[in-house]
Amino acid sequence: MFSIHHLDIAPLASAGGTVRLPGSKSISNRVLLLAALSVGHTDIVDLLDSDDTQVMLAALAQLGCRLEPQPDGALRVHGLGGQLAVREAALFLGNAGTAMRPLTAALALLASVHSGTFALSGIARMHERPIGDLVDALRQLGCPIECLGTEGYPPLKLGDGLAHNLRLDQPIRVRGDVSSQFLTALLLALPLVAQQQAIVIDVVGELISRPYIEITLNLLEKFGVRVQREGWQRFTIPAGSRYASPGRLHVEGDASSASYFIALGAIAPVASGSDGITIEGVGLASIQGDIRFVEAARLMGAHISGEANALHIRRGAWPLKAIELDCNHIPDAAMTLTVMALYADGPSTLRNIASWRVKETDRIAAMATECRKLGAAVEAGADFIRITPPKAWQAASIHTYDDHRVAMCFSLAAFNPARLPVRIEDPKCVGKTFPDYFETLFSVCHTDTANIPVICVDGPTASGKGTLSVELATRLGYHLLDSGALYRLVGLAAERAGIATAQADLREPALAQRLGNLAAGMQVRFTGQQIFLDGADVTEAVRTEAAGMAASRVSAVPEVRGALLGLQHGFRKLPGLVADGRDMGTVIFPDAPLKVYLTATAAQRAERRHMQLIAKGIAANIDNLLVDLEMRDLRDTSRAHAPLKPAADALLLDNSELNVEQSVQQVLSWWQGKTVFSSN
Ligand code: DC
Repeated sequence: MFSIHHLDIAPLASAGGTVRLPGSKSISNRVLLLAALSVGHTDIVDLLDSDDTQVMLAALAQLGCRLEPQPDGALRVHGLGGQLAVREAALFLGNAGTAMRPLTAALALLASVHSGTFALSGIARMHERPIGDLVDALRQLGCPIECLGTEGYPPLKLGDGLAHNLRLDQPIRVRGDVSSQFLTALLLALPLVAQQQAIVIDVVGELISRPYIEITLNLLEKFGVRVQREGWQRFTIPAGSRYASPGRLHVEGDASSASYFIALGAIAPVASGSDGITIEGVGLASIQGDIRFVEAARLMGAHISGEANALHIRRGAWPLKAIELDCNHIPDAAMTLTVMALYADGPSTLRNIASWRVKETDRIAAMATECRKLGAAVEAGADFIRITPPKAWQAASIHTYDDHRVAMCFSLAAFNPARLPVRIEDPKCVGKTFPDYFETLFSVCHTDTANIPVICVDGPTASGKGTLSVELATRLGYHLLDSGALYRLVGLAAERAGIATAQADLREPALAQRLGNLAAGMQVRFTGQQIFLDGADVTEAVRTEAAGMAASRVSAVPEVRGALLGLQHGFRKLPGLVADGRDMGTVIFPDAPLKVYLTATAAQRAERRHMQLIAKGIAANIDNLLVDLEMRDLRDTSRAHAPLKPAADALLLDNSELNVEQSVQQVLSWWQGKTVFSSN
C-alpha cells in the first residue's frame, strides 16, 4: 500500500465493525505446493495475495507449473503429477520460510530421482535462518545438497544432475525443536517417493509448534495422503501414496492475522453504535493452531464468542489481566500478547518462545526493544519475555525489522492512555502476509476528528498544489482531498444540467439555490486517479480549462460552497489527510496543524500550465494563459465568500525557484517539526 518511510498513527479512541481477513499464509503456501505436486488441477479459492505467496507462485511458475486465474477469482493450479517439468532452475524465495523449507525438501527428492539440479536463495535474512536439520535429514536419504554460503543455511544447491537411489527403508530422523517447518517440509515432500514402500519419520527432541503440523496433516489428507502418527514422535507415510487434487479448495482467513483484531477488540472501548469487532473468514472451527490465541485473549479478559467461520470480540476486563503463559502452541500469535501485556494490570510472562529468535527477525529482542521505547520494563531470556506495563507511556518510533508482525503488533499501541501517536517505520513490511492491514485497521478504528492530522495546501491556480499534495499524501500514507475537483464537478454538473455558467447571473437567488442543490446531490467517487460523477468516469472532462473556468465561477456561489462543506469534512479520516484547495486552511480545516500557502509568480505558473497542456498534446498560447490565470486569481481572491488568501498561521512557500522534490522536502520537514517524533 504505502511507498512510505513511516506511518504515524494518531491516538485511537474506540473500535467497532467487521473485518474480513486475507487468507492464511500457512494454508496458502502449503496448498499451492500440494496442488503443484498433484495429479489434476486444483481451483484455490481465497488464496492469500501477499509477498510470501507471490514468492511461492513465482517459484512454481519457474518450475513449469501452469497457473490460471479463473473468472470467479479462484486460482487454477495445473499439477505436475509428481514429475519435474523443468530439470534445472534458480529460485529466489525472498524471506518466505513457508516456501524455502518445503521446496527444499520436494526439489531435493525430485532432483535426486529425476536427475535435476536446483539453486534456492533468498534475502540476506533468509540466509541467516537455519535449515541445517532439514538438509541433514535429506542427506541421510542420499540427496546431494550443497550449502553455497554457510553450512546449515541457504543458499542451497539441490541435486547434481544425476539420478540417485534414495535410502528410504530406514526411519528418517529430523529435529523437531528448532522449527516445525522441517517436519512439515518432509511430510509434504516424502509422499513423492513413497510409491513402493512406507516411509517413517522419527522426530528427535521435543516437537514445537505442533498445530502447524496438524495443518500439514489435515491438508495432506485433502490431497489424498493419510499419514499415520504415533504421538508426536513418529510419522508414517503409507506405501502407494500419491497426491491427487481435491478439485476445489477454500483457504480460510489467517488466524495469526486475526490475533491483531482480537487484541483490538480486547483493548479498544466499543465504538458507539457498534457491537465490538467481528472477524469474518476464520472462526472456532479453524484448522489453524493460532486460533487458540482466542483462549489466551480470554485469559487476559476479552469477551469472545464465535461461530465456525467468524469471531465476535468486545472489551471485558479493563485493565487487561496479566498472564503467565506457555506460548509454544501459538508461536506467531503470541507476539500480539506482548502488546496486550502493555495494557495489563501487572507483569505478564510469555514462556517457551525460543523459536521467535529464528523468525523474520530475532523477535524476542525486537519486541523487548520496542516495548521499552514505549515505556515498559522488559526482561527477556533465551526463551521467554516478561513485560511490565509502562508507568508513563512515551511516544515511540517503532522500528519494524522487516517483520510484518512487529509492525502489526505495535499499531495497537495507539490506544495508549497517554493519547500519544505511534510511529511505525517501514509499514509496507506488512505486505508479507497482510498487505491491507492498516486500511483494515483504520476501517474499524475511531478517534476524535481533532486528532486526525490534516495538512492544508492552499494557493492560486497552477501553483503546483496538486502535484505537491499527491506526493505528500503518497509519502505519508494519507488520504487526499482535491477540493478543486469538487468545484470542477459542480461546474460540469451545471453545464450538463443546461446552466451556461459563463452567461448566467449565478448570484440570482433561484439559480444559486439550484446550483447548491446540484452540488449537494452529486454522487462523487474518487478511485485512485479516476473521478466518477453520478457513475460516469469524468476524469478527463474535469481537467479541461473550460471545467476550470466553470469551477471558478460556481465556486463564488455561497450555496455551492455550503453544499460542499460536509463532503470535504468527510475526507478527514485515519490515518490523515492532505487537503488541496483555496480555503482549506482558512475555512474547511481551520484547526489543521500545518497549513502551507503555495505560490509562484504568475509568469511561472502560466509557463507551467503551458508545458502541461503541450505535454497533453493540447495547443495553447502562453499569453492567453497568463491573462486567464490572472482573471482567475482576481476572481478567487476578490470573491466575498471564502476568498483565496493565506490563513493567518499558514507557512508561505514560493516555489518559483524550486522543483517538486525540493517543495516536498520543505513541507515534510515542516511536518516532521510538528510531530512528537521530531527528536527521533
Ligand atoms: O485547483 P483547481 O484549479 O482545480 O480549482 C478549480 C477552481 O475551483 C478554482 O478556480 C477555484 C475553485 N476552488 C475554490 O474556490 N475553493 C477550493 N477549495 C478549491 C477550488
